[in-house]
Amino acid sequence: MIEAKDLRKTFGTTVAVDGLSLTIEPGEVFGLLGPNGAGKTTTIHMLIGALSPDSGDVLIDGKADPTRADVRKKLGIAPQSISLYDELTAEENLRFFGKMNDLSGGLLKERTAWAIEFAGLAERRRSRVKTFSGGMKRRLNLACALVHDPPIILMDEPTAGVDPQSRNHIFERIEALKNDGRTIVYTTHYMEEAQRLCDRVAIMDRGRILALDTVAGLIAAHGGQSVIEAELDRPPDDADAIDGVLDGTSLRVETDRPLERVAALAEAGLSFRTLQVHQPDLETVFLSLTGRRLRD
Ligand SMILES: Nc1ncnc2c1ncn2[C@@H]1O[C@H](COP(=O)(O)OP(=O)(O)OP(=O)(O)O)[C@@H](O)[C@H]1O
Ligand SMILES: [Mg+2]
Repeated sequence: MIEAKDLRKTFGTTVAVDGLSLTIEPGEVFGLLGPNGAGKTTTIHMLIGALSPDSGDVLIDGKADPTRADVRKKLGIAPQSISLYDELTAEENLRFFGKMNDLSGGLLKERTAWAIEFAGLAERRRSRVKTFSGGMKRRLNLACALVHDPPIILMDEPTAGVDPQSRNHIFERIEALKNDGRTIVYTTHYMEEAQRLCDRVAIMDRGRILALDTVAGLIAAHGGQSVIEAELDRPPDDADAIDGVLDGTSLRVETDRPLERVAALAEAGLSFRTLQVHQPDLETVFLSLTGRRLRD
């Protein structure tokens, strides 16, 4: 279990994390979402003890100081900025991270082989990392976090900057880790990934958590209504009877019950040339909470 209590961190005049509290249960997949600069990486750095908070506490399985050896061993950390030795091969990197976490002998060999397979790098295991594509590096970066078989894994944008093939590979492997019962903290800018994977999601901005709930809970609370957009074959006979915005043959209806409304409109004699139903999703929630203004 991970507990963060009222964490604060400033860099000069920048308040990166501003009173953040959360509890992550064992076996939970927890998504930390937010625009660039929201404070996600700074939060993760404090959770793993890479940064000391200005104030507030972090407890991992009830213990303070995540850098203590017994706590550290429970954590797998895949940093946002890829952290590999370019001159070493894939296997040498994995062995190094394994040894750093006290693996040796047969277990080190076994876990290195597992991690090579996890990363999908069997054919390139003896190639130096500097010859790898971005996707291969990202996969290896994650595998290095897992080589010592940690029960708690923190992944900071594990699918950033890779092609759809690598993203899919990584995503399926993360799903397998979830099914395996690991506790996962996960940041991403891909809303559909978080929607598919996370038990709960925190949306943060400017160092604070704006909302924290299951995806369904967030959508219900902050997603707004579904939108029906239709192009009609001909203007309706009685336009006033239609409860929506009608512009010639274009119809827009906002509703909590889109399917029932479509059925009712068809019942009322409307005939649709095209019909689209936009249901609110995590991206709708994200934009509604954090706004549409650019952040750079
Ligand atoms: N070491 C540092 N020195 C100065 N400012 C920093 C430092 N680390 C982070 N910041 C600032 O703190 C704020 C939060 O940064 P952080 O990297 O935690 O955001 P993030 O949510 O991870 O963003 P991204 O989505 O771009 O990775 C930003 O304004 C950033 O510029
Ligand atoms: Mg970050």
